[in-house]
Amino acid sequence: MASQSSQWNNNTAFLLAATGSAVGLGNIWGFPYKAGENGGGLFVLLYIFFVITLGFPVFMAEVFIGKKGKSNPVSSIETLAKKSKSSSKWSIVGYGGILASLIIAGYYAVIAGFVINYGFISATGLEAGAAAAVYEAEKANFWEMTFWFSLFLFASGFVVANGIDKGIDKAMRFLLPMLFVLVIAMVGYGAVAGDFSSGLNYLFSWKAEDFSAGTIQAAIGQAFFSMSIGMGTLMAFGSYMPSNQKVSKASAVVVTADTGVALLAGLAIFPLALGLGFSPNAGDTLVFVTMTEVFAQLGSVGQFVGPLFYFLLAVAAFSSMISILEPSVAYLTQKHSMTRAKASTYVVAFCFLLSLISVAGHNVWSTVSIGALDNPFEAMKYFADDFLLLLVGTGMSIFVGWRLEKVVDADTMGINNKNLMSLWVFVLKVISPIFLMVIWTLGNLQILFDIRFF
Ligand code: TRP
Repeated sequence: MASQSSQWNNNTAFLLAATGSAVGLGNIWGFPYKAGENGGGLFVLLYIFFVITLGFPVFMAEVFIGKKGKSNPVSSIETLAKKSKSSSKWSIVGYGGILASLIIAGYYAVIAGFVINYGFISATGLEAGAAAAVYEAEKANFWEMTFWFSLFLFASGFVVANGIDKGIDKAMRFLLPMLFVLVIAMVGYGAVAGDFSSGLNYLFSWKAEDFSAGTIQAAIGQAFFSMSIGMGTLMAFGSYMPSNQKVSKASAVVVTADTGVALLAGLAIFPLALGLGFSPNAGDTLVFVTMTEVFAQLGSVGQFVGPLFYFLLAVAAFSSMISILEPSVAYLTQKHSMTRAKASTYVVAFCFLLSLISVAGHNVWSTVSIGALDNPFEAMKYFADDFLLLLVGTGMSIFVGWRLEKVVDADTMGINNKNLMSLWVFVLKVISPIFLMVIWTLGNLQILFDIRFF
């Protein structure tokens, strides 16, 4: 029998933990490079549009399941399935989320390890023009990469093992304020040292020819990933919410903060990159090659600002990593009665193995392709981000919209207006499943079979 979650004893804990989860590498590494790859402004506008119309409703659905089910992702769904006389098979949505979380943990730690490594690299001061070669050399070094990701993984496992109050809440109270100060500082520096108006222009202006199905896909995928939807993080954190906290208001705060930080990250990176004459369309090496080159060009100032930038990324990644480990740790402690220490050890050990595979994908196994995916790292990233997350998101949307219609209550949600409530349920029932599944199908056909419709 699964035990219920204990709860946080204050209303800020959920806000901090969920914001810490949402604001991560997705915002500062992913969002700017995807905006850069997709032509800037149009991607940004679509992103904001999907955050509001699809992301926010599904975010609330996930938090609701946790808050109402009061347990880990699997048990919460089981409890609510029983309550609504639905099949217990719905728990597969929870298991899908946990699977996604483990895989994401495996590759996320590796990127975070890179970030820490780059903090030191940029502090030593690189010669102008050296960044690309340095990146290749770092990527090729299996043991160095393993060292940095291990540090990151074990530290985040340690926080999670310490529980939701002494571990997660305590860490977030310290990490989040630091994160916001660092983002603001970076935007400020970018405005002074870079070309702020070009950066702003890049973020918000667009041309019709930038528009393609790929841009829509990228924007939706990025929105869901950035908001931490689809792997049980929000269910787990929702289950620790105090009973008087309202799902709608708390979700609105987190979603706004997450979107705000993504835009701020763009405002920190684009003015600097453009101001120093670099194009921001380098793809996923934007923060490792382009930005390192920017810091190299800045000379001794770069030796100070560079580490600050990577420290910001590391803090953001750390608070997210904690939240990525939590769903499976909650599952093992509540459903299989393990202590948190034991559960965390198992989860970290498993993620360690996945991370090793993901490191190998950068060097020793970099040419080992899996189907259409170039290497094991890309395969893990694809399977979790593009395949599982949207599937689990759709599952939660359908579950809450169709099966929990009678369980959903205005008080838990904090939505007193009947029309708003019906609108939310309608989006979950019809709009988001159709939209997500069309995007999911098109995206997967394209990636796996190279079939394009437009
Ligand atoms: N949202 C985080 C980021 O932007 C990553 C993350 C944490 C996540 N928990 C998640 C992504 C749950 C999907 C689901 O980096």
